[in-house]
Amino acid sequence: MPVVTAQRLTKIYSSSEGATATQALCGLSLEVEGGEFVGVMGPSGSGKTTLLNILATLDTPTSGSVEISGVSPAKLHGDQLALFRRRKLGFVFQDFNLLNTLSVRDNIALPLALDNMKAKEIHRRIEEVAARLGIVHILDKRTYEISGGEQQRVAIARGIVHRPAILLADEPTGNLDSKASREVMQAFADLNSTDAATILVVTHDPFVASFCRRIVFIKDGKVFSELRRGADNRQAFFQKILDSLSVLGGEYGDAASLRV
Ligand SMILES: Nc1ncnc2c1ncn2[C@@H]1O[C@H](COP(=O)(O)OP(=O)(O)OP(=O)(O)O)[C@@H](O)[C@H]1O
Ligand SMILES: [Mg+2]
Repeated sequence: MPVVTAQRLTKIYSSSEGATATQALCGLSLEVEGGEFVGVMGPSGSGKTTLLNILATLDTPTSGSVEISGVSPAKLHGDQLALFRRRKLGFVFQDFNLLNTLSVRDNIALPLALDNMKAKEIHRRIEEVAARLGIVHILDKRTYEISGGEQQRVAIARGIVHRPAILLADEPTGNLDSKASREVMQAFADLNSTDAATILVVTHDPFVASFCRRIVFIKDGKVFSELRRGADNRQAFFQKILDSLSVLGGEYGDAASLRV
């Protein structure tokens, strides 16, 4: 059974006056299997964030269905939905969203502490995830004492420490320079290959996308095409992503001239 099954999703945003409506998703279907590392790409306004918010159960589709780990979030309400989100989903945001008053360790502990996990088990989980993400040496620092790339790896640790069914990230490298972007994407790739973590990342950066194993290209609220990395190395995959983007058109029309 796939971790995510989204079928024929539509999303219509109606303006407050009801005068103009925007159709952000137009019958989009997507499946994500356990252990996949999927990138979602597409021009600005193509519906990427809308899709991610629906999968994150932060928004509901106008029509169509979503199942995550066999559960339909549409059937959950209030506390049940909040609990589902907290246990089954992990999030990484563009702006890190860490709590500046807490240490790195306490930021990562938060989702576990909310679930009343025993202190000893929390400690064990934090050490494990920090080792995986290369942040053991900064665990007792405050978040304002570490770099942007480190902050994002802390956010990934917090997003994965409760072992969610899927980790969802919207432009996780949007606020990072290229060196930090590379480190953050390598961290996602390691979690995927070593721990079989299921990850979905929205990005418009082909270099960032080249760390993924599959790319889903979205255009006008629908899946336009897909690309699987297969046996390609990252450089070869990057070139194929550029080729697909130039076919996609829009702001990507001259993407083929980009280089890493
Ligand atoms: N809350 C909203 N109310 C009305 N329209 C919205 C809302 N959110 C998004 N839209 C519209 O829906 C469409 C899809 O937006 P979405 O944010 O999903 O695009 P995106 O692919 O994430 O773009 P970007 O790459 O710029 O982040 C756009 O036309 C956008 O203007
Ligand atoms: Mg967006």
